[in-house]
Amino acid sequence: MCSETPAFEPAFLCVQCANTPTKCALTERRNPVFNSLQTASADAILGLIAEYRDDSRAEKIDLGVGVYRTSEGKTPVLGVVKRAEQMLIDGQDSKAYIGTAGAADFNAAMQALIFGDSSPDDRLTTIQTPGGSGSLRVAAGMILRATPNASVWVSEPTWANHVPLLGGAGVNLKPYPYYDTENHVIRVDEMLAGLATAPEGDIVLLHACCHNPSGLDLSETELRAVTDVIVERKLVPFVDMAYQGFADDLDRDAFAVRHLAANVAEMIVSSSCSKNFGLYRDRVGTLSILSADSKTRDIVNSQVNNLVRTIYSVPPDHGAAVVSLILNDPELRRDWINELTEMRERLQSMRRLLNDALIEKTPNRDFSHLVRATGMFCFLGISAAEVARLKKDYGVYMVDSSRINVAGITRQNVDYLATSIAATVESE
Ligand SMILES: Cc1ncc(COP(=O)(O)O)c(C=O)c1O
Repeated sequence: MCSETPAFEPAFLCVQCANTPTKCALTERRNPVFNSLQTASADAILGLIAEYRDDSRAEKIDLGVGVYRTSEGKTPVLGVVKRAEQMLIDGQDSKAYIGTAGAADFNAAMQALIFGDSSPDDRLTTIQTPGGSGSLRVAAGMILRATPNASVWVSEPTWANHVPLLGGAGVNLKPYPYYDTENHVIRVDEMLAGLATAPEGDIVLLHACCHNPSGLDLSETELRAVTDVIVERKLVPFVDMAYQGFADDLDRDAFAVRHLAANVAEMIVSSSCSKNFGLYRDRVGTLSILSADSKTRDIVNSQVNNLVRTIYSVPPDHGAAVVSLILNDPELRRDWINELTEMRERLQSMRRLLNDALIEKTPNRDFSHLVRATGMFCFLGISAAEVARLKKDYGVYMVDSSRINVAGITRQNVDYLATSIAATVESE
């Protein structure tokens, strides 16, 4: 047994005990840094995916996963993306670095898509980011640079990664009331009252549309009321737009962004092309920051690019180049909007199908919030114990909160799904 500082050479055997590093008794003491770590808690969704995969029941249904699916259960590459990718491969002549801000043509097209024709260009800066998550992470860094003591107010509940992502970056977080889990409505009055207590300069994170996890969005009237509080309290809106085109259409889904941009001096907008272009793994998104004047915009622009350099240096190119081709070519753009419309309409019709089937199979329970919600997600509105029974007895998988991804519903499985839900909630 060795007692001195071990040295592993030659052939990486300990010169004292002749053991390999893993067998040498001193290895543990040689690695004090990583040995201090504990296993990180597993991501709930990843655990659910593994359980679903290992379930041998043919009738099993996955309502947990966070991606769009067709009626065949596939998450396909959009046809228009395939065509744009081919054009890209044929025409691309360099893989040299792009700058920290990404491609100017992509940024301009995305800025127009998000902010519309009346985009306040002289006060806005938009950069390309690695997905919506990358955008949120850079936004957190900018908040810490500009106003480290401010809090970001997040809806209760919010997307499962908002708190770990923003909080993990070092930003202070505070909750504001949003979803009433009993009655399946937005707690608008409590939300307004909560935000009215926020100190000047705090930041309010809003979901542009298809609120994840509840699927319920503020009406235009409610959004105007929230804007009034934001303006009155001198707060800074921070809009996360991960589902543009999944609720109503590209323009109406951008109402929150555009209304706020027209009424506030400063704001932050994170967008993602993961869902609406189906480019999940290619990591495409943007971060836009609206400043009070063009001089500040230039300073913000220099800071955000400097910050990116210290995190991932430059964003990935491929997916953004594809999006740019699509948005800047009228024919490709039209075809994209058609495919996007198809995805949106499938989600809406699956919501209606499930609600209709539940009305028939469990008339005493009200699931009408399913059709009031938009986008991929909403709460089914059952207890964690019922979620567990659905999984055990029927092979129906969803996260404990009963948030479901309606893209997992098909015409083939909806009857079995509704029967399983009815049997589970009625066996109480
Ligand atoms: C509300 C919300 N914001 C941001 C994201 C991040 O998307 P991305 O995959 O582009 O990082 C998601 C993804 O599910 C989301 O639901």
